[in-house]
Amino acid sequence: MPFIVSQDIADEDFDSLFAIQYKAFSNQPAIKACYPGGLDEPARSENVARFINILGWKRSNVAAAKVVDDETGEICAFATMRVCEENPFLCAPDSDIHFPQVDKEIRSAVEWTFNTKNDRRRSFEALQVPGPYCHLQALGTDPARQRQGAATLLVKWAVRISDEKGSRAMVEASKDATKYGLYSKQGFRPIDTCNYVDEEKFPGFAGMYIVTMVRDAQDK
Ligand SMILES: CC(C)(COP(=O)(O)OP(=O)(O)OC[C@H]1O[C@@H](n2cnc3c(N)ncnc32)[C@H](O)[C@@H]1OP(=O)(O)O)[C@@H](O)C(=O)NCCC(=O)NCCS
Repeated sequence: MPFIVSQDIADEDFDSLFAIQYKAFSNQPAIKACYPGGLDEPARSENVARFINILGWKRSNVAAAKVVDDETGEICAFATMRVCEENPFLCAPDSDIHFPQVDKEIRSAVEWTFNTKNDRRRSFEALQVPGPYCHLQALGTDPARQRQGAATLLVKWAVRISDEKGSRAMVEASKDATKYGLYSKQGFRPIDTCNYVDEEKFPGFAGMYIVTMVRDAQDK
């Protein structure tokens, strides 16, 4: 298989990385709507830059990796790993997090997932560690390149980083990833499930079922 994992992410890579995410999450509006361009449009450069900034994806505590087809140079998959020194959800008061880049139709639903004592927050509390931990995020494979081992390479990359740091790794796994055993095959275990968005509170907006999974660091 001609795949290579690379942490060498150039600024110009982000457009294609987001294009992959956009396609990969096309059936999950709660996530898709958070990406640059919102629900209906593909990512646009100016939004990508803003989004990266807001998420802090270029800060020193975030590692990113892409899977590249060694023969064509094409980027096929992408993931980020945020090293969190502390668990922000443990004992924290409701915070005041805003996402101006998110579609206005769903912005309140998305902000709700971070600002309220809700199921998602309970999932983070279930981590039961003050920190540090490594949060694997935004993992997606271009639909045209799925089932070829790209995501598995990224999960192994994340496991290697968290083992090197001696930190617990966590991921909010999608329904599909859980069904495929993407994380459990690399030693992650489920600790909680939640609906990303409360469909009763936000009618018409498809909720998203996620499984919070953790993997304790192992000796190298
Ligand atoms: C979930 C996802 C990342 C998997 O990516 P991928 O590159 O196809 O994954 P891999 O090729 O490494 O496959 C991992 C395992 O899942 C299995 N798998 C992948 N797609 C599958 C499918 N459609 N049906 C059944 N099994 C599948 C593979 O067979 C493989 O199992 P194996 O290790 O026993 O061979 C991809 O489907 C995706 O981007 N989905 C949408 C976004 C998403 O859910 N991201 C995860 C966020 S937590």
